[in-house]
Amino acid sequence: MSVRHDVVIVGGGGAGLRAAIAIAETNPSLSVAVVSKVYPMRSHTVAAEGGAAAVIKDNDSLEDHFRDTVGGSDWLADQDAVELFVNEAPAEMIQLEHWGCPWSREPDGTVAVRPFGGMNIERTWFASDKTGFHMLHALYQTSLKYSPIVSYDESFATKILVENGRCQGVSALDLRTGKVETILASALILCTGGAGRVFPFTTNGAINTGDGMAMAYRAGVPLKDMEFIQYHPTGLPGTGILITEASRGEGGILVNKDGYRYLQDYDLGKPVQVTDPEHPVKKSMELGPRDRLSQAFVKEMERGRTIPGPHGDFVLLDLRHLGEKKIDKKLPFVRELAKNYAGIDPVYEPIPVRPVIHYIMGGVDTDTDSATSLLGLFAAGEVACVSINGANRLGSNSLTELLVFGARAGRAAAIFATQNPDLDVEALEKQGADEQDRIARDFIRKEGGTERIATLRREMNETMESGAGIYRSERSLRDTCDKLMELRQRFSNLLIEDRSLTFNTELTSALELDFMLDVALAIGQSALARTESRGSHQRTDHPDRDDENFLKHSLAFHTDDGVRIGYKDVVITKWPPQERVYGK
Ligand code: FUM
Repeated sequence: MSVRHDVVIVGGGGAGLRAAIAIAETNPSLSVAVVSKVYPMRSHTVAAEGGAAAVIKDNDSLEDHFRDTVGGSDWLADQDAVELFVNEAPAEMIQLEHWGCPWSREPDGTVAVRPFGGMNIERTWFASDKTGFHMLHALYQTSLKYSPIVSYDESFATKILVENGRCQGVSALDLRTGKVETILASALILCTGGAGRVFPFTTNGAINTGDGMAMAYRAGVPLKDMEFIQYHPTGLPGTGILITEASRGEGGILVNKDGYRYLQDYDLGKPVQVTDPEHPVKKSMELGPRDRLSQAFVKEMERGRTIPGPHGDFVLLDLRHLGEKKIDKKLPFVRELAKNYAGIDPVYEPIPVRPVIHYIMGGVDTDTDSATSLLGLFAAGEVACVSINGANRLGSNSLTELLVFGARAGRAAAIFATQNPDLDVEALEKQGADEQDRIARDFIRKEGGTERIATLRREMNETMESGAGIYRSERSLRDTCDKLMELRQRFSNLLIEDRSLTFNTELTSALELDFMLDVALAIGQSALARTESRGSHQRTDHPDRDDENFLKHSLAFHTDDGVRIGYKDVVITKWPPQERVYGK
């Protein structure tokens, strides 16, 4: 048995909902399913804080946004994709306002923008410091307007169904019943977000386990540029909770154990006077790009100038000079988070922070219409790699990315589904039944086994941090890849004790770990193969950028013998690579 729609979207966050709306607007006769592991308003988009970039002010231009993004990417972004992205961004942001997103305003009523890391001009729109919450809300309530959009909430997609060389649906575990549904469709859009949970310290929600990446990879679609992992310089130690870059955009400074603004020692510019709350810092070294700030933290730690703590070393983010009024107006959520999760009121005390995994630049290889190499399969948002982010994403480009490419994916999938209505139903239902059997046999009814999920996950997290973190080397990456292969072996000896079918969280965790191990190995092998340093990928044994050999995207292919790495050219349309310089 199966259910049938025209387009299935896996993931109910910003990209998924934007895609659903685009489909409904492109062809209202198409039936659209949104399959989501959680209720859409609990998707990870809701956690985004600082803002979304798009050109809106007279002092800015599309060319400036293009150049900041390409330079920030260390020239690994595809320039055709970036051009299209910056061009379509402003209309998407205005559209979102018309759907109800309450963008913060200047006193004269125009849209307010704030400075953000690596952006040389202020272009980050925001809704206080709960931007993701407001964007997701606007998208969700708009999606409810369209009756062809139906939701499968708390439904965990486990396998892409491919027949005759075409993606024709997905298997999804209904978490309430334990039943594996076969959901057929002419087109499928993956919008499952990132994979931050393969690392131990992350801003990512517990749901960000790389499910979509692993499913696409297993279905034969390569994962692109997986070695490029973003550490956000200011997460709370222990929990990894994000302290938004907007804190630095509004004038916050980073100091080491001696109260010294250490970033002035790392080619990120000179300190700017920050004592006058009426004149917020517009540009300063704290607003350098995230890769450089996170690398500076490691150097500072090596110099013994960070502060040791129970969750590793940290530095301090000082907002006190901004004053209570400004903090409450512009950064109320930061105050709330710091109070609740660090026991610190930033009006009176600096916040302990450290780099934490925030985003993966890599993902499912797509073209600028979000199409993958598998006919009928599309991907948008963090799960995808178009690529506009290259070796380092600029803060506030990703919320806009999910709007622009969510909409493009929706339109392209709608056209594809309209033109390809026929499905191989019988064969697909057989595949669906096989998937139900696999989950029952390998997990729910699995006998024996001694390996605990939590142990394997912890060991995976530890090896990713120690071997594939901010700085890597051949030695560390080989150790990590070997460890991951050992964990993959041990996974087949998993101990499953919960036999229930209703909200079986042990089963969900096992399936997530299965996906994460694939994604982690793709990260490790891609990083091992790239013997240069670029953006967030810093090899201590190959410290220089090597355009001659590595101005190209890596592609990780799934094979029976493990990961195979290939490459494809970066699209350079108008700005040839240069030295990447900040703070001059
Ligand atoms: O710091 C932040 O608010 C994060 C923004 C982003 O990743 O785009």
